[in-house]
Amino acid sequence: MKRYHVTTFGCQMNEHDSERMKGMLEALGYGEAPAPEEADLILFNTCSIREKADSRFLAHLGHAKRLKLEDPERIVGVGGCWAQSVKDEVFERFPFVDVAFGPGQVNKLAEFLTSDSISAQGFFEFEGFTGHLPDKRAREFQAWVQISVGCNCNCSYCIVPSTRGREVSRPHGELVEEVRRLAADGVREVTLLGQNVNSYGRDLRPRATFAGLLRDLDTIDGIDRIRYTSPHPKDMREDVILAHAELAAVCEHIHLPLQAGSSRILKAMRRTYTRERYLERVALIREHVPDVALTTDIIVGFPGETEADFAQTLEVCEEVGYDGAFTFVFSPRRGTLAGEITEGLVEHEVKVARMQQLVEVVQRRAAEGAQRFVDRELDVLVEGTSRTDPSRLRGRSRHNKAVNFSGLASPGEIVSVHITGASSQTLTGELSLLAGVSPR
Ligand code: SAH
Ligand code: SF4
Ligand code: F3S
Repeated sequence: MKRYHVTTFGCQMNEHDSERMKGMLEALGYGEAPAPEEADLILFNTCSIREKADSRFLAHLGHAKRLKLEDPERIVGVGGCWAQSVKDEVFERFPFVDVAFGPGQVNKLAEFLTSDSISAQGFFEFEGFTGHLPDKRAREFQAWVQISVGCNCNCSYCIVPSTRGREVSRPHGELVEEVRRLAADGVREVTLLGQNVNSYGRDLRPRATFAGLLRDLDTIDGIDRIRYTSPHPKDMREDVILAHAELAAVCEHIHLPLQAGSSRILKAMRRTYTRERYLERVALIREHVPDVALTTDIIVGFPGETEADFAQTLEVCEEVGYDGAFTFVFSPRRGTLAGEITEGLVEHEVKVARMQQLVEVVQRRAAEGAQRFVDRELDVLVEGTSRTDPSRLRGRSRHNKAVNFSGLASPGEIVSVHITGASSQTLTGELSLLAGVSPR
């Protein structure tokens, strides 16, 4: 049997696409190899969101080149956003690569592997959904569901619209069917994926809405938790917020990317909302879902960001009190508007200093916010044993907080945990004796 190995970089969308790649390869009769050294087919699913993503991947590609020299029969394939962003250049720069494909062309990998072609091939059209390919889930009780591909936004720093194309939604009925099938297959938690999930359905005829999709998925028996990522603040309407308040399965967690706290910088980023509008959305969310956990993405050091602009980002973080944040230093990307800016660039040391300040505020506020969970009983979906202490269990609360706890339970069970301690990143606790367990 031929064996494959996939290394995945980047976001949840790529993790999803890799699972589908694996599902497709297994349907073709391939088996999974534990390491690239043992594989006949070495695949990379790449990301290009920041410069670091590129350099990490290129180090791995060097290793694949050595393996290919050892055994020229090996096939090296490169998929995903980096591949798309450099397209056919791949073969000039890396002649040992046999096949390259963008995120919209994962299915073409099968075509390549089953054809007699021995020459290098590239596939870079935008067509089809990886969600249509067979899946191979990492955990049987959790699943990604791709609800749309692409992005119609124009954020000036972002490479994604050029690597994933225009936004296309999958039909509402098809998604409801897919989640029904997943539930029948043992899935209790689904995470809906899209670059801008809450603009879902605008391109469909008849039009569908994201809130409507949440409502229909919530009625499916066996689905206890619905999550999604990422929504865009500009499209965060009341109907979606109410879904969190009213629907039992929709979790009390919203990832609402801020990017910057200064309206001037938000404008330069082309985010199409202001600081005030963002804070008004947060207020509306808190009004309907008081116990919500909010997380975010923030970029520091965008070209032209002054101390005063940055101070406004810190202010928003203080005010909102996020439960967590992914913080990034601005990285110029090829083909983006902000990547072309040559004036007002923020010096490296300044970016690093701002990042330190930002992380300090985010962590302090997250740790303060997490205290609200202490002494409460939280439903935890058990994922496995604790990474740091194998005698303890690990899982996630509905708020998407990692919970480490003592007691006996199996992966896939939802148990009630009494929370005894909280830090910025994790909660600790013990299995409640009072409440019952909810096995599958
Ligand atoms: N579609 C999602 C995810 C985009 S990528 C969304 O809009 O939320 C994830 C995060 O990477 C972005 O939210 C942004 O904070 C960060 N990011 C994107 N491009 C970047 C760049 N050029 N430099 C630094 N961070 C970037
Ligand atoms: Fe990039 Fe903006 Fe689209 Fe997110 S919404 S993928 S940041 S262009
Ligand atoms: Fe995701 Fe990276 Fe592409 S973050 S969308 S894999 S550029």
